[in-house]
Amino acid sequence: MDLLKVDTAKCLRCGICVECCPSCILTLGENGPECDFDRGCMSCGQCVAICPVGALDNKYAPLEKQRPVTMPMPTPEATYEFLRMRRSIRNFKEQAPTDEEITRMLDVARYAPTAGNTQGMYYVVIRDKEKIKAIADAVADWMEDEVAAGTENKRYFTTVLRAYRDRGQDIIARNAPCLIFALARRLNITGVSNCEQSWAYAELFAPTIGLGTTIAGFIQSCGIAGYQPLLDLVEVPPKHKIVGTLMVGYPKYKFKRMPERQHLKVDFR
Ligand SMILES: Cc1cc2nc3c(=O)[nH]c(=O)nc-3n(C[C@H](O)[C@H](O)[C@H](O)COP(=O)(O)O)c2cc1C
Repeated sequence: MDLLKVDTAKCLRCGICVECCPSCILTLGENGPECDFDRGCMSCGQCVAICPVGALDNKYAPLEKQRPVTMPMPTPEATYEFLRMRRSIRNFKEQAPTDEEITRMLDVARYAPTAGNTQGMYYVVIRDKEKIKAIADAVADWMEDEVAAGTENKRYFTTVLRAYRDRGQDIIARNAPCLIFALARRLNITGVSNCEQSWAYAELFAPTIGLGTTIAGFIQSCGIAGYQPLLDLVEVPPKHKIVGTLMVGYPKYKFKRMPERQHLKVDFR
């Protein structure tokens, strides 16, 4: 099949698919939308999804795999409260989340936006306590190197190391029973930004199935820096890079209040 298959009996020739194609590769012909540059398609499926009469199929985003939108939009008030309720969880119960729970959380993260619909995030889940400790130790070693080299992180990492090494507080991995590493083929702004979007979805979904999360910033910075001992511990496959790390577990405590943030700063020009 060519990129597009148009049911000409159904097609209204309204041109909405042409207007909505993010790659601007569709034109409106006599028999409906046409495409003369298949390779420009980013498989986002918007052309198929937007068609008011279901007249369009796309070989990279098949109609049969698209689900009808049936759920009403939640109210702004409920959504606002829900989004405000999310908190970073740094105190976890000992028991690690199950395969099923982690899969459910990561599955929804697939629906986060990705640059050019690149998707392709690949996750490695680590629940071995000793390995998580070894990872935190490796990150502390990396921080020590950074401090010794006098990088811009020197002051901050010195404080972190004081807690981790001198006081024995796990400020790096928070004694989390589970670390999730996001891997991508590209360690550019795209890979890292895609991961951030994916974490946002995962973090918002997590509490709905009883999980708590926090982005493991020190670990992911060490991974993004390509620190080999960490890559070895995670067993990062060839051609893959660490683009993010998330701590996950069952929250030990429940938040009773929602703190305020800085004032909204916005200019309308
Ligand atoms: C990029 C990024 C890195 C972060 N790294 C860490 C981290 O290493 N350890 C940690 O405890 N929290 C980390 N956090 C969580 C923030 O500290 C937290 O989001 C912030 O204090 C606001 O609190 P809240 O998430 O509970 O609303 C990180 C958050 C982001 C976005």
